Amino acid sequence: MKIHAEDIKNSENKPVHIAIIMDGNGRWAKQRGLPRMMGHNEGVKTVKEIVTASGEAGIKYLTIYAFSKENWNRPKDEVNAIMSLLLKTTEKEISELHRNNIRVKVIGDKNDLPKGAWDVLEKGIKLTKNNTHMTLIIALSYGSRDEILRAVRSLAQDIKRGELNPDDINETLFESRLDTHNIPDPDLIIRTSGEYRISNYLLWQSAYAEYYFAPELWPDFHRQEYYRIIMEYAKRERRFGKTSEQVTA
Ligand code: FPP
Repeated sequence: MKIHAEDIKNSENKPVHIAIIMDGNGRWAKQRGLPRMMGHNEGVKTVKEIVTASGEAGIKYLTIYAFSKENWNRPKDEVNAIMSLLLKTTEKEISELHRNNIRVKVIGDKNDLPKGAWDVLEKGIKLTKNNTHMTLIIALSYGSRDEILRAVRSLAQDIKRGELNPDDINETLFESRLDTHNIPDPDLIIRTSGEYRISNYLLWQSAYAEYYFAPELWPDFHRQEYYRIIMEYAKRERRFGKTSEQVTA
């Protein structure tokens, strides 16, 4: 049965924040005897479809893993081509995102990015910063361990300056130093391509996330499969360490 955006919008248990690992572009291209970059180009179409589908279904936060800290170790040609695809897509799509009242944020180590790249992204971030329909978070040069270390360093600096007592470090303060501050934790994390890994993605934030591993390669992943996963999520019981009886009481 076809699931409509409205079905999810009206669902009480829909996730507030969905985070996606868009995996399988390379294999999609390889299966067709095409260069890997063709897989990434095709992957952009899926990004557009899923962003639109999320907005229409009333999802408030969507995070997509566009490029990991570890992806810098790929062959230089592929790194450069992904970066330029990303910037070209951002430049091309930003006004449409803005028209749809979508706020764009970027998480990750921006110091790794070529300066021109950050300028393009920053322009989009500034343009859309007051939008309220949905927040699209692009994880770029992102690695969770790196993010956590940057947060630890920032707290250590405060201690060194005598502005912070180590005993006052709690979850709220720690979270305020993460790239994701002011973004609620992901409720649902989806990875495509049939791989069962977290790949250094939102490790702190995913403490109570529900996972779903979809068999489709990212370019083959479409709205219906996405909506089916969200509907399945809505049926799961999230206990946050409590018993089933406590949750249902
Ligand atoms: C994973 O497939 C995909 C990536 C590392 C890059 C994803 C980037 C895009 C879709 C580009 C555009 C992004 C935006 C936000 C516009 P893989 O190469 O690891 O696939 P494989 O595991 O089959 O080799």
